[in-house]
Amino acid sequence: MLVSAKEMLQKAREGKYAVGQFNINNLEWTKAILLTAEEMRSPVILGVSEGAGKYMTGFGTVAAMVKAMIEELNITVPVALHLDHGTYEGCYKCIKAGFSSIMFDGSHYPIEENVEKTRELVHVTENLGLSLEAEVGSIGGEEDGVVGMGECADPEECKMIADLGVTMLAAGIGNIHGKYPENWAGLSFETLEAVKEKVGDMPLVLHGGTGIPEDMIKKAISLGVAKINVNTECQLSFADATRKYIEAGKDQQGKGYDPRKLLAPGTEAIKATVREKIELFGSANKA
Ligand code: 13P
Repeated sequence: MLVSAKEMLQKAREGKYAVGQFNINNLEWTKAILLTAEEMRSPVILGVSEGAGKYMTGFGTVAAMVKAMIEELNITVPVALHLDHGTYEGCYKCIKAGFSSIMFDGSHYPIEENVEKTRELVHVTENLGLSLEAEVGSIGGEEDGVVGMGECADPEECKMIADLGVTMLAAGIGNIHGKYPENWAGLSFETLEAVKEKVGDMPLVLHGGTGIPEDMIKKAISLGVAKINVNTECQLSFADATRKYIEAGKDQQGKGYDPRKLLAPGTEAIKATVREKIELFGSANKA
């Protein structure tokens, strides 16, 4: 069932759990995530960065694939198809393509411009029944060429954006995309508490879910985080399992080179990672 992320995130915030956003790259990724969410009776968000959208030949292809797959696989849990770190133009492209949820990342603009563009997108998405995520304070690290320094969000600015009526808010709290460096200072719960105080019941989004220790994840959820984004961890699981298959020479045994066999261990590894995260985030049996 393709739905906006609004209801699933409000339920998550009230029930003190988080819904996972797992980024997709191709058919195997999408299938693995949808089947695992269904098996665990968990709502799920499929994240698509602009780079991944381009890789899959365009947002129209992605939306058509996801909609058809939901039907062909009889997926009954709520699924949101969400643009991740969208540019202003990218948001409109995804709305046209039929995405059910949009992220406008205006964090690199001066706050006035972030507010103006977000305000416009609140109106557009609201009229169409889509959910909208906005961002304040950039997320550190690099994802698909989008580089952020990982600054903590200003709670006053978070309030300005939340008051526009967005569905969910990503506030930088020292989180970073990709692997965390050894000397990472950890999440700033001080910032998270200050943001929560200003934005009240707004579901908060934690980007950079890969490699955050379990106790920090649980604490973040207890402080209002209702959506957690995971991308790199599925990529690492897929790469590890694929490497093992090839290093064991299995691609050269029988028809082990058949892509359906070659990509199977990686696909199973994505499923295991998604299963683990759904359990940790507490969204199993909440569909
Ligand atoms: P990771 O790649 O660090 O898991 O971050 C994913 C993310 O935040 C997508 O927006």
